[in-house]
Parts: sequence; structure tokens; C-alpha cells
Amino acid sequence: MGLLEGKVIVVTGSGGGIGREHALAMAKEGGKLVVNDLGGSRDGSGTGSAMADAVVEEIKSAGGEAVANYDSVASVEGGENIVKTAIDAFGQLDVCVNNAGILRDKTLSKLDEGMWDSVIAVHLKGTYCVSRAAFNHMKERGGGGVIINTSSTSGLNGNFGQSNYGAAKAGVAGMTRCMALEGQKYGIRCFILAPVALSRMTEDLPGFQDDSFKTKMSPGLVSPLVTFLASDLAKDMTNKTFFCGGGRIAEMKMVTAAGVTKTDNGGLWTPQEVAEKMGGILLPE
Ligand code: NAI
Repeated sequence: MGLLEGKVIVVTGSGGGIGREHALAMAKEGGKLVVNDLGGSRDGSGTGSAMADAVVEEIKSAGGEAVANYDSVASVEGGENIVKTAIDAFGQLDVCVNNAGILRDKTLSKLDEGMWDSVIAVHLKGTYCVSRAAFNHMKERGGGGVIINTSSTSGLNGNFGQSNYGAAKAGVAGMTRCMALEGQKYGIRCFILAPVALSRMTEDLPGFQDDSFKTKMSPGLVSPLVTFLASDLAKDMTNKTFFCGGGRIAEMKMVTAAGVTKTDNGGLWTPQEVAEKMGGILLPE
């Protein structure tokens, strides 16, 4: 019996790249898949049904169950319709992987409002639109669930030329940490994923063209972690952030240093004292 037998799973943006690998891997474990993809290009322009249809066909020809959905994650209506597609086809939704994404990279000084708005709309608002519909369905159904939201080291650590994308991905992480707390009493487990893999999103980055790198950074290397998180093997876990890529899986965490507490003068520091105590305020290198 597969690890996800009987579970109904939505993977947004699963017509290609990392999402396609998630959908194939989870269908192989017995999950019933909604393959959502708007079918546009890397920068979010255009639409089409071919990408989602091809992955549905791949799953079906391997003996699995899948239906396609072509809605954009970036509207409330789209998010609700993606969840409705799962309920209409398979009666419920157990796992939602928010993976859809676009890129419009520019350094801040050249980043126009359209580039900001479109990236925030797909990644941050899109994660809200789909998560909220999925969360409410899981809450009302009362059987728990899993929501895995795709962030990025660009948002968690920063990356040159990606202030729109980094802001959206940091927002996704912040939102997910709050959702995880809210989901606890309903058995809804929430996770943050920071993947690295070769896809159309990263194919022109320096170093990603090398043949050995292509194998090393295959998008399929990210999906076993997602399959694990979606399964009952991880039933006691929630609210964790994982880096995953190139065969490496590692937890990531926001940390606060022990710091220094001023006890005299009502806790009011002088700027000079802040300077003097900086060694104890900063985290160790
Ligand atoms: P990709 O471009 O191959 O896949 C993204 C998919 O999302 C595409 O199939 C696209 O059609 C779909 N999509 C875009 N806008 C959509 C919308 N509004 N509604 C529904 N579907 C939409 O890129 P990749 O690399 O597979 O990215 C998957 C996720 O992983 C993204 O969220 C990305 O930001 C994230 N990520 C990827 C990294 C990498 O190294 N490839 C690094 C860090 C994060």
C-alpha cells in the first residue's frame, strides 16, 4: 500500500518543474491528484491547458488518478475553484502543496510596479487564496490535513536582484508559521519548503547549465521530502521549514540571540551602551 493511499492532493503549478515531480511522486504513492497549472510562461504571461493535461496523462498512464485544473492561484475565485475541483472529483481534500510561481527579476532601482505586483500576486496572494480555501475545507470536514507552502532561500536568506520575489517568499513563510499555529487544533499541519532545483525558473542562472549540475539538481530530488510531510509518517510534525535540493535536506530556523537585558534605569539603554554591548547582542558568527 502506498504512503498516500486514499489521500486527495492539490499541487499548484504542477504542469512542470518541481510541482510536476511532486504530483508524479505523490500519485505513485496512491494519492489522487489535482494537477493545477495556469500554463503560462516563466514570467507569468499567457495561459494554456497543455501543461496540466500532459501531467494528468502521465499519472493516468502509470495507473494513477488525476484531474486537471487551469485556474490562476492569484485570485480568491481561482483558489476556491482549485479546491472545488478536488472535492468534485474525489469528494475531499487532504493535502495542498502551494508551488505555483513566476519570476520577474530586477534590482530594486529598476523594479517597476508591475513586476512587484505580479510576483506578489502569484506567490503571496496565491498562497493565501489556495491555502484559505483548503484550510476552511479541512477545518469543516474535521479530518485534519496538510498544507505545504513553497518559499525560497531568496526570501529566507536574501538574494541579489529578487526583492519582489524575496518579499513574496518571506511573506509565504511568515504566513505559514501563523497558519501552522491556527491549524493545530484542527489537525492541519503546515510546512515551509525552500527548494533548489533545475527548472525553467533557474535554467539561466550561472552554473546551472553544466551537465553534471543538471543531474545533481534534478527537481525530482525535492519531492520525497514533500511526500513524507504529506504522509502519516510525519503525523506528529508541523510548523517546520526545510531546505531541500541536490540530495540535501536541512531544517531552517529563525533564531533570536540570548541578547543582553539592561536591568537598571528602567531598562532604558543609551545608544553608547548599545554600541558597547553589541558583542553580546549579536548572534555568534
Ligand atoms: P517552474 O516555472 O518550472 O514552475 C512553476 C509552475 O507554476 C509553472 O508550471 C507555471 O505554469 C505555474 N504557474 C505560474 N503562475 C501560476 C498561476 N498564477 N496559477 C497556477 N499556476 C501557475 O518553476 P519551479 O522551479 O518548478 O518552481 C516551483 C516553485 O518552487 C515556485 O514557487 C518557485 O518560486 C519555488 N522555488 C524554486 C527554486 C528552484 O531552484 N527551482 C528555488 C526556490 C523556490
